[in-house]
Amino acid sequence: MQVPWNEFRTIILLVSISALIAGCSTPQGNPEDGKRWYTMHNCFACHGPNGNDGKAPEINQPQMNFRSFLSIIRDANSPIMPKYPEEKIPKQDVADIYAWLKSK
Ligand code: HEC
Repeated sequence: MQVPWNEFRTIILLVSISALIAGCSTPQGNPEDGKRWYTMHNCFACHGPNGNDGKAPEINQPQMNFRSFLSIIRDANSPIMPKYPEEKIPKQDVADIYAWLKSK
């Protein structure tokens, strides 16, 4: 049987392009996991169990894009909110939290 190299090449190309796009843009977040990370990392202690019922500002249904959200999690430039580097909360988990807050 002959290998359809042309089609094969097209598929490889498409897969690489989508991987590239996925790497640069917002990772898909999973709201269920997000709720778990949110609790695990004690966000609720300040922002409340629902993101809008704590002492810190409301963060449910964030209007900001994921990039801004991520940069706040990494460094909120706040004397109160801790910094969460990649080692503490990987980007994917931040995306999960974002998805969860968006879904509220
Ligand atoms: C110790 C308390 C504390 C914890 C824990 C905390 N935050 Fe915050 N967060 C704050 C405070 C206070 C602000 C407001 C920043 C300021 O003005 O100093 C803030 C700001 C934010 C903002 C920006 C809100 C806006 O509209 O500008 C986001 C988003 C956010 N926090 C998400 C989180 C997430 C997600 C977690 C858990 C990973 C978390 N925070 C953990 C206290 C906390």
